Amino acid sequence: MPDARRPGVRVQPPFERPRDPAEPGDRVAAAGIGEDQVGGRTQQETESTRTTHAPDATARHDRGMRTDIDPAEMGSQAFYKVLNSVIVPRPIAWVSTRSAAGVDNLAPHSFFTAACVDPPMVQFTSVGKKDSLRNCVETNEFVVCLANEPMFEKINATATDFPAEVSEFAEVGLTREPSLTVAPPRVKESPVALECRTEHTLELGDSTVVIGRVLHAAIDEDVFDTDERGNHLPSATRLRPLARLGRNEWSTLGEILEITRIPYKKWPGHYSG
Ligand SMILES: Cc1cc2nc3c(=O)[nH]c(=O)nc-3n(C[C@H](O)[C@H](O)[C@H](O)COP(=O)(O)O)c2cc1C
Repeated sequence: MPDARRPGVRVQPPFERPRDPAEPGDRVAAAGIGEDQVGGRTQQETESTRTTHAPDATARHDRGMRTDIDPAEMGSQAFYKVLNSVIVPRPIAWVSTRSAAGVDNLAPHSFFTAACVDPPMVQFTSVGKKDSLRNCVETNEFVVCLANEPMFEKINATATDFPAEVSEFAEVGLTREPSLTVAPPRVKESPVALECRTEHTLELGDSTVVIGRVLHAAIDEDVFDTDERGNHLPSATRLRPLARLGRNEWSTLGEILEITRIPYKKWPGHYSG
């Protein structure tokens, strides 16, 4: 049945009983902090809190219980928080750009992924019109730096809505390292820089997807290792990437699992796990 307090949310009958506010269903639909908002917690708490969450939803899931959400009814701003809470973890592009006036800009974007293999392309999404987007369009260049764990608080600080004429590099105290192929600088404190030329922008409602061709990759020597098959590649453990979750939550790398893909010609005809 519809829940008057939460537009677009329909709760199946078993959920009508009074609920413990600590239950995951409550927290997903009722809370959530947007990227641009500072929520009820203080900045200090936000920056320093590290929590281990082990939601015990298995029993309810096994009984087939779900909360149904209609995005149109809930409203896109509220549903944005739900999306951000379920599309997790998201890698964070620390996007460096230079404005036409020569101001170096830096901002994190977690709507970010690889977009194409050949030619190599990456994409990030600007929700609304921001300095990063304007610079990518005006000057056609950007650098995606990896958001690494030691930079946690500084990355967050570069998400402050500084005016366009203020450089986050100077304000937050980050070191500019010259790029090889584009004008925007790399972040010296980050182990990876992907130097990109803007190839496409795609307007989707209130957001714009920026797709860039990777012209050059500059990766710290220290993060490479050679595995038992002889592959010399950056190691996830050494990169120490950060990821964005829902609310004001971020995460570090969890347990790393390894598995090889099963070619169809070796498919056993059943799968028992
Ligand atoms: C970890 C993190 C990820 C973010 N991801 C995005 C995103 O994907 N898209 C977006 O528009 N804003 C995102 N933001 C908010 C922007 O970083 C913020 O609005 C910033 O001020 C934009 O800066 P700019 O105007 O210099 O481009 C994110 C913020 C944080 C802290």
